[in-house]
Amino acid sequence: MPPGLLEGRLLSHDDHYRAVFEASPDATLIVDSEGLILDVNEQAVRMFGWSREALTGALVERLVPSHKRGAHLEHRMNYVRQPRSRPMGAGLELYAVRRDGTEFPVEISLSPRTPPRGAGQVICAIRDISAWERMRKRSGLMVAAMEQERKRLSLELHDEVLQCLVSLKVRVRLMRDETDDGRRAREGEQISREILDTFNAVKRLIRGLRPPELERQGLAGALREHFHLLRESGGFQVDGEVDDVDDELDEVTALTLYRVIQEAVANAARHSGERSATVRVASGGGCVVAEIRDRGRGFELRDPGSAEPYDHVGITGMTERAAMVGGDVTIETAPGRGTLVRLTIPAGGVPAMPGVRGP
Ligand SMILES: Nc1ncnc2c1ncn2[C@@H]1O[C@H](COP(=O)(O)OP(=O)(O)OP(=O)(O)O)[C@@H](O)[C@H]1O
Ligand SMILES: [Mg+2]
Repeated sequence: MPPGLLEGRLLSHDDHYRAVFEASPDATLIVDSEGLILDVNEQAVRMFGWSREALTGALVERLVPSHKRGAHLEHRMNYVRQPRSRPMGAGLELYAVRRDGTEFPVEISLSPRTPPRGAGQVICAIRDISAWERMRKRSGLMVAAMEQERKRLSLELHDEVLQCLVSLKVRVRLMRDETDDGRRAREGEQISREILDTFNAVKRLIRGLRPPELERQGLAGALREHFHLLRESGGFQVDGEVDDVDDELDEVTALTLYRVIQEAVANAARHSGERSATVRVASGGGCVVAEIRDRGRGFELRDPGSAEPYDHVGITGMTERAAMVGGDVTIETAPGRGTLVRLTIPAGGVPAMPGVRGP
């Protein structure tokens, strides 16, 4: 490189390190042996909501939730006695607190620093892991949902198919030992009826996995049939206005729409306290949008990742299904305000065809 080319562009040593410090994606603090914050980077200011001036000179415990401050102080003292580079609180769930009092999960790594003069310091790099934590909880819920589905399948296989086969085996033995021709013929008829029952049981199972109406009649037809069944069997009325969007959907997105609508309508029937709901499906702006609305009791919406026991998987399942095809589910609800579930899925961009009205 010709000499002098970088002249005037080179950062001084200090500027260089300052730039790296400020550019770090982690909130970074330099803390002295007494726990006083000596320096912070821009990310720390953004993460904690305190100004640089308010953080500099403050005790690092300001960033620790109040109920953990005592323990933190003790850990800090121990660290000063034995400083070394390490993640903080290995195996523990660590939380930090923002200026507004909200707590969030963090990962912290500590590195000792020996300045040219004075006592040792610690460089703390803090990473907000809320998004990762949410994902972890969600995937836990998904595993639970899959487990439930397996349980349901094994129960149905056991109670329906297996029972039918056991009974068939007995009947075949009876028929084989029968000497009376008339009784043999009647046994034969009974067996063929039971084969038909088994056949129907297997069909019901397959239907639960992938509704054949969806293939036969497309989304609008399959939904129409589903709403009809809900009215006939449960007295729940669904007013559907379903555009023909089949040309814009592949097999997986069509199934996603069908399953999400099915779950949202089932929730309206089970939880809203009302006897009816409306469903609209339309396309526009490169998306297919489905809205399922009831005017019932509504509910306090929680982050699906925070749902504690794994026995409410419907909403998580909807969200996950939508995410798998690049879509999104939003829910507008509040106690006493009804519920609106909106699913948006990217479509193929083919113009929508004239609407087909549901029942
Ligand atoms: N339309 C609705 N109206 C009122 N409450 C609702 C509605 N939809 C959902 N909820 C509330 O949200 C909770 C969670 O719903 P979610 O579908 O995740 O689980 P679930 O229906 O209880 O069980 P499942 O896992 O069988 O779906 C419900 O238990 C209910 O309290
Ligand atoms: Mg549900």
